[in-house]
Amino acid sequence: MGLKCVRVWLLLISMLISLQGWRMEGCLEQERSALLQLKHFFNDPNRLQDWVEGHGNSDCCDWESVDCSFETSRVSSLDLGFARNQELGEWYLNVSLLSPFQELKTLYLNGNLIAGCIENEGFERLSHLNNFMDLDLSYNMFNDNRILPVSGLNNLKYLSLSDNMFNNSILSYVSTLSSLKELNLTDIGLKGTVDLQELDSLINLEVLSMGGNEIEKVVISKGETSLRNLTMLYLSNMSISDGRSLLQTLSLFPSLEDVNFYYNNFSGAVNTYELSNFTNVREFLFSDSSLHISFLQSVGAFMSLDTLRMEDCEVSGELTDQELPTFKSLMKLDISNTIFNNNNSLQMLGSMTSLVYLSIVNCTFKNTSLDEGICKMPQLGRLIISGNGLTGTFPWWCVANLTSLYQLDISINSFTGHIPMEIGAYLSVLNSFNISRNAFEGSIPSSFGDMKSLMWLDMSNNLLTGGILEELAGCISLQHLALSNNSLQGQIF
Ligand SMILES: *[C@@H]1O[C@H](CO)[C@@H](O)[C@H](O)[C@H]1NC(C)=O
Ligand SMILES: *[C@@H]1O[C@H](CO)[C@@H](O)[C@H](O)[C@H]1NC(C)=O
Ligand SMILES: *[C@@H]1O[C@H](CO)[C@@H](O)[C@H](O)[C@H]1NC(C)=O
Ligand SMILES: *[C@@H]1O[C@H](CO)[C@@H](O)[C@H](O)[C@H]1NC(C)=O
Ligand SMILES: *[C@@H]1O[C@H](CO)[C@@H](O)[C@H](O)[C@H]1NC(C)=O
Ligand SMILES: *[C@@H]1O[C@H](CO)[C@@H](O)[C@H](O)[C@H]1NC(C)=O
Ligand SMILES: *[C@@H]1O[C@H](CO)[C@@H](O)[C@H](O)[C@H]1NC(C)=O
Ligand SMILES: *[C@@H]1O[C@H](CO)[C@@H](O)[C@H](O)[C@H]1NC(C)=O
Ligand SMILES: *[C@@H]1O[C@H](CO)[C@@H](O)[C@H](O)[C@H]1NC(C)=O
Ligand SMILES: *[C@@H]1O[C@H](CO)[C@@H](O)[C@H](O)[C@H]1NC(C)=O
Ligand SMILES: *[C@@H]1O[C@H](CO)[C@@H](O)[C@H](O)[C@H]1NC(C)=O
Ligand SMILES: *[C@@H]1O[C@H](CO)[C@@H](O)[C@H](O)[C@H]1NC(C)=O
Repeated sequence: MGLKCVRVWLLLISMLISLQGWRMEGCLEQERSALLQLKHFFNDPNRLQDWVEGHGNSDCCDWESVDCSFETSRVSSLDLGFARNQELGEWYLNVSLLSPFQELKTLYLNGNLIAGCIENEGFERLSHLNNFMDLDLSYNMFNDNRILPVSGLNNLKYLSLSDNMFNNSILSYVSTLSSLKELNLTDIGLKGTVDLQELDSLINLEVLSMGGNEIEKVVISKGETSLRNLTMLYLSNMSISDGRSLLQTLSLFPSLEDVNFYYNNFSGAVNTYELSNFTNVREFLFSDSSLHISFLQSVGAFMSLDTLRMEDCEVSGELTDQELPTFKSLMKLDISNTIFNNNNSLQMLGSMTSLVYLSIVNCTFKNTSLDEGICKMPQLGRLIISGNGLTGTFPWWCVANLTSLYQLDISINSFTGHIPMEIGAYLSVLNSFNISRNAFEGSIPSSFGDMKSLMWLDMSNNLLTGGILEELAGCISLQHLALSNNSLQGQIF
């Protein structure tokens, strides 16, 4: 080995040593040994495998599930979710084990079968941490409502207690955490009537999840709330059947924007005319729920509602004349895979005059025809009514009023009749036209040539006859043409 080579080696070794030295500075000795102590409890054999003493492994900031502050190299985040050997069954946590992490911001302890804390070694041990913001205790076996200290944890912003076994008094215990922005109380054993007044001191709360509880009624006993910043409410899988009272409660949150209803049963009728015009809530999402048509109609009382989405639901009940439809500002209606057990639900469309986007896909209707309500939507840009088995004639005469329409998709239905001769004049700005898999008959109108913006044209799988006219050549933007499975003749251009 030449001298030069030895020098290079020496240089490399000294670089390694200095790197190692820097790394040792990276992780505080006391935090490293605290982590090694924690590992006795978070002992899933497949997790935290690099939490061991060893050569080249001393910087605990590099360990799995650990993050450190960039400035101070102190542990700032610990993700101990599902890190316990589940075969050991439930156990009690000693929170003091976590108190060496003075700059801890985020702590995930979810999915560890923790039944509670050792006496005098609970979360009050973290009260002094000024940066502590996120705490996830979900999917454990906690059952003592006094799990969190009544004072301290002054900066906690996010708390998930979901999937534990508390009762309604947990509300008054969490209400001391006045910095909370997001609170998840999914499936924690709430029952009966829940009074959100109890959370009134959480004035910064923005997101609240309360699904999966046997809640029969949600009230605000004083009739007004201090939760003025609440924007999102997740209310899945509840036992509420009084839809009217629920909507009235929702109307009391001044900033509420999104309401998510998943897996509910609002199959009871609501008297829409008793509801006032509410001025909050921008978006409702319903999925996997049973709904009475009047409940859906009642949602129209929210004057700022701009988006209504519904998937995998079942709608029953008939619309009656008493129900005042409003839907003053609804711009987007998106329904899929929903069963309508009535024959007049589409009449609701008649009140949705501000729609820009209307999509009803893969739904099941009972002897229902498409209502002329779509005539009264002057701003409609996209009309997608596909895969619904709708029969009868398509209300083409309406389409003449839809001067902003650029997408029309009524594929996979059983519409019959002719395509009107004047279609090209009606739909002059149309970009996409899809009537495939219906039972349209007659010939292709020559006015198609007037649709100068048409890019996508699909009329395949119908009963169209006659020639493929050279007028289609007028469609100067056409990029995709499908005409198969008709009885058409002739050449394409
Ligand atoms: C809890 O952990 C702390 C810190 O390791 C220790 O000093 C204390 O003795 C433990 N408490 C119990 C009851 O084991
Ligand atoms: C709620 O649980 C606590 C124990 O955490 C118990 O003392 C209290 O009686 C329970 N309250 C109700 C209404 O069940
Ligand atoms: C609340 O927790 C449940 C269960 O862990 C989860 O499914 C849901 O998405 C959470 N809510 C929010 C808003 O993240
Ligand atoms: C609510 O949100 C606003 C704007 O985001 C913010 O200025 C205010 O501090 C928040 N808290 C309360 C209690 O209003
Ligand atoms: C509804 O909540 C119950 C607990 O209250 C739970 O057992 C069930 O799995 C949930 N169902 C769905 C579909 O989320
Ligand atoms: C919804 O509740 C009604 C009674 O209020 C009941 O008859 C119906 O079976 C329920 N639907 C579902 C899907 O659970
Ligand atoms: C809601 O507003 C509409 C008109 O915008 C009005 O006809 C209706 O009476 C109002 N409903 C209530 C309950 O105030
Ligand atoms: C719609 O259903 C009602 C009862 O469910 C029935 O009386 C009416 O005749 C039906 N109308 C049509 C057009 O099928
Ligand atoms: C509707 O059904 C078709 C065919 O079954 C499927 O490809 C498509 O993804 C469905 N669309 C929606 C929005 O569910
Ligand atoms: C379907 O509705 C039409 C009127 O729209 C009615 O004449 C017919 O009897 C109905 N069919 C059934 C099976 O209800
Ligand atoms: C078209 O719109 C006008 C006014 O917006 C309305 O008077 C007319 O009834 C509409 N046409 C149809 C077929 O609904
Ligand atoms: C027309 O609709 C059918 C069925 O929904 C779809 O498979 C096809 O891709 C669409 N055609 C165009 C050009 O988008």
